[in-house]
Amino acid sequence: MWPMDCIAHKRDGKVLTADEIRSFIADYTAGRIADYQAAAWLMAIYLQGMTDEETTELTLAMAKSGDIVDLSSIPGIKVDKHSTGGIADTTTLIVAPLVAAAGVPVAKMSGRGLGFTGGTADKLESIPGFQIVLPEEKFLDQVRRVGISLITQSGEIAAADKLLYALRDATATVESIPLIASSIMSKKIASGADAIVLDVKYGDGAFMKTKERARELAKIMVSIGRLAGRPTRAVITSMSAPLGTAIGNALEVDEAVEALSGKGGRRLMEVVEALGAQMLIVGQKAADEAQGRAMIRDLIASGKGLAKFKECIKAQGGSTSWIGKRPLTKAEQVFTAVSTDGGYITRIDGRALGEIAMEMGAGRARKEDAIEPMVGIRLFKELYDPVRPGEALFTLYGKKTDDMMALAQRAADHIIVTDEQAAIQEPVVSDIIL
Ligand code: URA
Ligand code: CA
Repeated sequence: MWPMDCIAHKRDGKVLTADEIRSFIADYTAGRIADYQAAAWLMAIYLQGMTDEETTELTLAMAKSGDIVDLSSIPGIKVDKHSTGGIADTTTLIVAPLVAAAGVPVAKMSGRGLGFTGGTADKLESIPGFQIVLPEEKFLDQVRRVGISLITQSGEIAAADKLLYALRDATATVESIPLIASSIMSKKIASGADAIVLDVKYGDGAFMKTKERARELAKIMVSIGRLAGRPTRAVITSMSAPLGTAIGNALEVDEAVEALSGKGGRRLMEVVEALGAQMLIVGQKAADEAQGRAMIRDLIASGKGLAKFKECIKAQGGSTSWIGKRPLTKAEQVFTAVSTDGGYITRIDGRALGEIAMEMGAGRARKEDAIEPMVGIRLFKELYDPVRPGEALFTLYGKKTDDMMALAQRAADHIIVTDEQAAIQEPVVSDIIL
């Protein structure tokens, strides 16, 4: 097959055959198709779309383009969780130990953060001694012994995705549902889990701006999972405000420990329960959502989730002596801002706060940038909370050289307090796609 024919077919709105898609991905990964041809193909897909069958073929071809992780030596149903990327979203660090404590094996590979959303790998690396890179045999052995291991991708999972994602980034073809769905699901399938639970986010701080687009993306990913023999469910969640209250790496680990100790915020815990319940269902430990949610609450109340998190940290060489005694976060400068007005919090612009935290060093503008594990923003209020004049709104954790007053002023501009309570209060979890 000539790549030009495949590009022309998609340009003209035809449905590509499985063969066309497989050859295109195999040839591109092997360097037989040029970047400019792949870029034209991506734009044709962006403009013409793909059927569910084409998207599934693309996903499977991408999954086969790199290393495939074999988790079959771990007994039980291995369940993976994936979020499309949020702000103050530390759910993985909470929900993974909780479901592991219920006996669902968690062999989780997480990415590093890029831009204003945090990466689980970076958060874990703020724990002294924590080894985020493990050889495959050690990783598998830890899941067999402890029931959970949290590492970062090594090797080349879905090699085609890495190449295509870089092209999409440079050619304005990121926001395409078939391209996002195949990118995410190819990595999940190649990572070896038997079942997958997705957190698909919508709102200002997410890839998908509307609930409708998020549902559309979720439906195709759930269908790909089913066709690939990996039962998949998706929870649709709002990212129109930060999920939790911590933005920054060590701060988010502190928030995860608090949540596992029964002190998590309302919005964060709603998503933890929803995702945890679905993971327990696909892992065949809970019969339905009500039972799954009750199990998650019990695992927090009994301290079993926190104990499992500590066990995981220890097994990966990390220090746990601070847990339950003091926060992990230790910054050179701390500055707390108070509210001048009383009323209700009607808007928190998570994306803007994420960008400020990123500028402070919590995130990367480019892949090769280093991060500052200890900096960031800790909110004391959630969306819709009441607030009194003079009450603390947030604390900034900065470096010696930061102008804390100026940063606080900027951050305060993105937290809106009004006299009246918001007329419509949007739920955090709006839907579950089975
Ligand atoms: N996350 C991914 O892994 N891929 C996308 O295309 C979008 C979000
Ligand atoms: Ca995240």
